Amino acid sequence: MSSEVVLAVQGIVKDFPGTRALDGVDLDLHKGEILALVGENGAGKSTLMNIIDGVLQPNEGKIRINGEEVVLHTPLDAQRYGIGFVHQEIALCQHVSVAENIFMAELNTSKKSLVNYNDLYKRAAEILAPLGAVDPKKRVNELSISNQQIVEIAKALSLDCKILILDEPTAALTESETDALFKIMQDLKAKGISIIYISHRMAEIFSQCDRVSILRDGVYCGSLNIAETDSKEVVSKMVGREITNLYPPKFQGDCTKEEELLRVQGFTDGFRFNDISFTLHQGEILGFSGLIGAGRSEVMKAICGLHPKIGGSVAFAGEQISISHYEDAIQRGIVYLTEDRKVEGVFLDLSIRKNISALKIDQVSTNGLVDRHKENGLSDEYAAKLNIKCASTTHDVSSLSGGNQQKVLLAKLLSIRPKVIILDEPTRGIDVGAKSEIHKLIRNLANEGIGIIMISSELPELIGLSDRVLVMHEGDSCGIICGDDINEKKIIHMASGLEKVGV
Ligand SMILES: Nc1ncnc2c1ncn2[C@@H]1O[C@H](COP(=O)(O)OP(=O)(O)OP(=O)(O)O)[C@@H](O)[C@H]1O
Ligand SMILES: [Mg+2]
Repeated sequence: MSSEVVLAVQGIVKDFPGTRALDGVDLDLHKGEILALVGENGAGKSTLMNIIDGVLQPNEGKIRINGEEVVLHTPLDAQRYGIGFVHQEIALCQHVSVAENIFMAELNTSKKSLVNYNDLYKRAAEILAPLGAVDPKKRVNELSISNQQIVEIAKALSLDCKILILDEPTAALTESETDALFKIMQDLKAKGISIIYISHRMAEIFSQCDRVSILRDGVYCGSLNIAETDSKEVVSKMVGREITNLYPPKFQGDCTKEEELLRVQGFTDGFRFNDISFTLHQGEILGFSGLIGAGRSEVMKAICGLHPKIGGSVAFAGEQISISHYEDAIQRGIVYLTEDRKVEGVFLDLSIRKNISALKIDQVSTNGLVDRHKENGLSDEYAAKLNIKCASTTHDVSSLSGGNQQKVLLAKLLSIRPKVIILDEPTRGIDVGAKSEIHKLIRNLANEGIGIIMISSELPELIGLSDRVLVMHEGDSCGIICGDDINEKKIIHMASGLEKVGV
């Protein structure tokens, strides 16, 4: 890493209605370094990157690229200065091919009326090759979220940029995709390209980055050399207080003796999962573990009528039920928190209020008309309960930071007072402080008698919270473990298909 500064921002101020998102922020990026940018949800990380990419204009402050002061009106301006940006939220055109998405800017500005598709597919394949197997001809809406993320990364790489911004790129990637991305980052660094890397995962920051810059509530709190600090120091600078990583106490006694809420038997879709059976009890947190792609989300979606199945039955509180649509599940008080927040979860261009009350529209309406008073009361109650950071619940969800959008989604589900909550990666993209808040919240819900199923790819979270854990491997159940068996070694062993318990 050299001491040559390729990008310097100074005194950046950004105001949104009711919020000062950035308050005089400075940041230096050196040639050939990987700089981590950290901060709690809503600290201003994405806003700062949007300013550097010309998506947003600052109210005050200067940007210098290679020493020259620049004004970036649009992302195209930023591109001309060699800046590439992988946004936090996937923003691909869903109905066109992978290759067309990667070269979208080129296709839009090209003067040629005919596109040489063979050439386009070939070039896309070359960029995609080191990242993993994604077919350039496939339409984006046929891809998994992790593959869509790969396409976003490929799109930025196709620009041949000098400065690459990655805003939480690994949140939706599998382990091997993450490793492939890290390798590419190190290769780019060796070529003198500078990278700004945003992540809530301390382990990644410490293994990949050279320096870390810290934002807290829109204020710059300094930078540290990774070699000279540790995660404890970074986290405490980030949140301004000590964070205890303690999980709330688990269920006392044997949760399987509690009243049974769900009995799922022989669930099979003939494709992604096969013969899955389990029970869920009042007050229990049942973890679902497995590698990404093991079929966990599909099982849960099938239970809620969101994915087809060819065999299996569900009993709810001892009674056989049939759920063919998600509405049937909601009627019974069974709700599913999706892992794909943007596409399946929130209405981005509706207010926080309308999002939270979306499932309760009947209860907040009188004679078919929404009663604003009731709607506001309900939404404000849950926004406060989940500590959603916003200037007002009348603002659109798109104005919230990623982590706070996740809380809106959770608030929406909680507002119907469900009996069974299925959480799919509930703390993805959530900062350390908010994460432990959400963990406490999940346990409190269980303590109120709600049955909770939690899919999580984060082992510490799964181990710290779950009363029992069902491990899946390639669509099959490897059994359910509890007590001291819930440990990292055992779970990894089972998830890799090396061990089965009681099946
Ligand atoms: N378009 C907007 N309109 C109004 N407020 C906004 C807008 N965009 C961001 N904000 C506010 O600015 C603050 C910073 O948000 P930002 O998205 O930059 O946070 P972040 O650090 O990226 O958080 P996360 O880790 O959750 O992604 C938040 O309070 C957010 O609500
Ligand atoms: Mg962000």
